[in-house]
Amino acid sequence: MSSKGIFIFKAMLGILVFWATLSAQAAAEELQISYSCASCHEDRYNEWTRSMHALAVSDPIFRAAYTRAIISNPEYRDYCLTCHSPTTMRTKDYNFSKSISLEGVTCIFCHTVDGVNKNSYVFGKVDLIRGPYGDSKTDAHASEYSDLLTKSEFCAGCHEFSMNGVPISETYSEWKEGPYAAEGIQCQDCHMEAIRGFAAKDGVEREKVYRHFWYGGHSGQFLEKAFKMESQIQRKGNNAKVTLSITNSNVGHKIPSGFPYRKVILNFMATNGEGKEIFADERVYTKTLHDQYGNEVYDFWKASSIAMDNRIKPKETRTEVFEFELQDGTDKLEIQATLNYQLEAEVVSISKEIMNVEIAKIKEAKWLNEAPVSSPATKEMPAPGWIGFVVALIAAVLFIRRKKPEKGERSDDI
Ligand code: HEC
Ligand code: HEC
Ligand code: HEC
Ligand code: HEC
Ligand code: HEC
Repeated sequence: MSSKGIFIFKAMLGILVFWATLSAQAAAEELQISYSCASCHEDRYNEWTRSMHALAVSDPIFRAAYTRAIISNPEYRDYCLTCHSPTTMRTKDYNFSKSISLEGVTCIFCHTVDGVNKNSYVFGKVDLIRGPYGDSKTDAHASEYSDLLTKSEFCAGCHEFSMNGVPISETYSEWKEGPYAAEGIQCQDCHMEAIRGFAAKDGVEREKVYRHFWYGGHSGQFLEKAFKMESQIQRKGNNAKVTLSITNSNVGHKIPSGFPYRKVILNFMATNGEGKEIFADERVYTKTLHDQYGNEVYDFWKASSIAMDNRIKPKETRTEVFEFELQDGTDKLEIQATLNYQLEAEVVSISKEIMNVEIAKIKEAKWLNEAPVSSPATKEMPAPGWIGFVVALIAAVLFIRRKKPEKGERSDDI
């Protein structure tokens, strides 16, 4: 190319970049807040408001971690918000001056995605709504069918990521390598319950509309479906041998999944006929991280390796054996095994919160002179330990909302 040619080329490129920036800004301004969908999509709006997606940026557990992360490296500001406030990918509003930036994973973000490439999303026009039907008729917005939206790959852009080469959240690959992917069961099939109903106020009745709660580890009732537990008690001379089998029977990925340090704790206890404790032990299933010095590190952006990962894969049965000595004269043995899901987190300056949900429990008694048989386990109603946590979380969100606005934040937004 001649130097004149190069000049013209550069000038055209300049105009193109200028035009792209302008139209990007214009597009950013048109992103609609979720409340603007509420008048017609009331159910979806109400569900989403109560979901962790709506809390993704105001969640006090995130805020506390985010503050620590950007102190350690200011570049994490944009990075963390990619997933926790994904409209910033389009608006670049990293200081939350727009109300939509505080809506976390919001309607217009998900419903205008055109493609996903690792942890970054490709967007289409802001006024062309992507959905699972494609035949919607409304004056409110144009719509188009999106196959991507109905597949796990859509969720993977946020629910799978590494930092410094260390896999932090692996929910998508845990699913992909497991039996559910092979059967074609997507994240949406478990996390967005399909029911018969109306998608919009003036819409037609549909065979399937999809609930927008995205229940997960923060929801007690949802966790209760996760495991099956069975026990077998045997006598071996003066010893008792108890075998517990724990099956991840209903979860499409490892349990726990996602954010490291979530724990499932198995508490085991054996008593004699009079209720006196003979033996107690516990097992912890979790994923923990090490920093470059080999010390355990909670703040995942400082991790340089996975310290351990013994979480239970989808459909996997983990066997735990407890062997202990029986006291003389013990003729009856009672065992109790409880599985607890634990989420421990530092919540701003308020407190260190621990959510504990009892997800499965079995109790069994056995006369030791009988022949060894495995007996059916009795399931008890789990204790509502998570209610306290949810109350604390809501209290903390309200606390943050009342907090004085930070520089660049609008007080009426939060
Ligand atoms: C995390 C991404 C995400 C967010 C946030 C989200 N949606 Fe959806 N939405 C989906 C997916 C995925 C489907 C299709 C599910 C499927 O096909 O299994 C869907 C389906 C729908 C549908 C189709 C019909 C129905 O009722 O199920 C409507 C309408 C809808 N969403 C509206 C909304 C509104 C309004 C909001 C905000 C209040 C919102 N969505 C937030 C991902 C999202
Ligand atoms: C004035 C009413 C109105 C408003 C406001 C509105 N919609 Fe809709 N939307 C509808 C109607 C009506 C349908 C068609 C429902 C049907 O056919 O079952 C629809 C369909 C949809 C679908 C399904 C598209 C498909 O064909 O798969 C999605 C997704 C959706 N809307 C999302 C949104 C989002 C996100 C917003 C806010 C940015 C929004 N809508 C605002 C009325 C509205
Ligand atoms: C733009 C990024 C993004 C996308 C896309 C996304 N999520 Fe999320 N999701 C998040 C973030 C961030 C959180 C955590 C919010 C928090 O705890 O602060 C979350 C939380 C969740 C939770 C709750 C976990 C818990 O601990 O209770 C579930 C379940 C979930 N997402 C499922 C999905 C599914 C299914 C899809 C695909 C339809 C999806 N997500 C798409 C970012 C995303
Ligand atoms: C077969 C049903 C099923 C499928 C498929 C499934 N999940 Fe889950 N998921 C669950 C159940 C049940 C829980 C609650 C137990 C738990 O927390 O591990 C859960 C929990 C979660 C959590 C919270 C993790 C935790 O341990 O606190 C996230 C995040 C999540 N799922 C995202 C996803 C994503 C993303 C996909 C797709 C790649 C997906 N799920 C596929 C059933 C499923
Ligand atoms: C690629 C997307 C992505 C990026 C980047 C990301 N996160 Fe997350 N984060 C998630 C998802 C998805 C969840 C929910 C996962 C789950 O529940 O298992 C989550 C959960 C969390 C949680 C737990 C919230 C709770 O209530 O339990 C904290 C804290 C957190 N992220 C902090 C950060 C910080 C700080 C950064 C930046 C250093 C960051 N995240 C970057 C996707 C991301």
